[in-house]
Amino acid sequence: MLKFLIISVLFSKMPGYLMQEDMNGKVFLFPEESNSSYVKLLPEKSGPYKALSVCLRYYSWLYRGFTLFSLATSDINNDFHLFYSPRHYFRVSVGNEDLIFKGINLETWRSLCASWDSSSGVVEIWIHGNPYPRKIFQKGHIISKDPSIIIGQEQLLHGNYFNITQSFVGEISDIHMWDTALTFKNISDVLQYNNLTGNVISWSSLNYKAEGHIAVLPCLKSMYPISTCN
Ligand SMILES: *[C@@H]1O[C@H](CO)[C@@H](O)[C@H](O)[C@H]1NC(C)=O
Ligand SMILES: *[C@@H]1O[C@H](CO)[C@@H](O)[C@H](O)[C@H]1NC(C)=O
Ligand SMILES: *[C@@H]1O[C@H](CO)[C@@H](O)[C@H](O)[C@H]1NC(C)=O
Ligand SMILES: *[C@@H]1O[C@H](CO)[C@@H](O)[C@H](O)[C@H]1NC(C)=O
Repeated sequence: MLKFLIISVLFSKMPGYLMQEDMNGKVFLFPEESNSSYVKLLPEKSGPYKALSVCLRYYSWLYRGFTLFSLATSDINNDFHLFYSPRHYFRVSVGNEDLIFKGINLETWRSLCASWDSSSGVVEIWIHGNPYPRKIFQKGHIISKDPSIIIGQEQLLHGNYFNITQSFVGEISDIHMWDTALTFKNISDVLQYNNLTGNVISWSSLNYKAEGHIAVLPCLKSMYPISTCN
């Protein structure tokens, strides 16, 4: 009974309910491996998108690869997908094609921003406030409308079918998404000043549905403000 009470306090957000919340100062905790716990994020703009940027911060215990952000459209499961493997590679997928960045270490609290622009094909990633050499990828692709956006799982089909071996375990916060490629000043506003919020997904007014074992907890800050949760 006591155990039940503690768990029901910790997981007090009723699963499956649509929430709208200012998440500043909070994190989502994914406490265990599963293929059924996830957070669905509802976008303010339904697309189609000709450019896209995502920023988030996270901390994980995992020693295997895991998904950080999964956007599926009706025909394309990895229409925009961010995946990290502890073998120091980071993968950005656009339109089901994969782009690999090697030599990247994401093993503590990390801030991450990734952007892609269809007209130039430029892919930019910033990790822990550092830019990496840019690449050109999927020029001309368009991410179609009504995406299904999920945190915690990789979508093998639109909004469904998850693979436990790619699930996320740990804390994730400060998730924002824009339908433009962010400029240098925009990235600095997000990471250094925390005064730019997403126009498609905003952590300051997040519309989400949490399914399974997920807790919303206060952020525990570290001394490295650029990478810790806000
Ligand atoms: C989770 O895994 C089980 C067992 O492999 C499978 O039957 C089920 O369909 C999976 N659930 C999802 C949502 O992918
Ligand atoms: C699940 O992911 C693992 C590791 O990436 C892979 O080997 C396996 O084929 C995947 N299973 C499915 C059903 O996609
Ligand atoms: C990003 O910064 C540019 C100037 O560098 C500005 O014109 C633009 O409005 C900013 N974008 C957002 C989403 O605020
Ligand atoms: C964020 O704050 C910085 C520093 O005060 C300022 O230079 C920048 O213009 C602000 N950006 C936005 C979008 O308000």
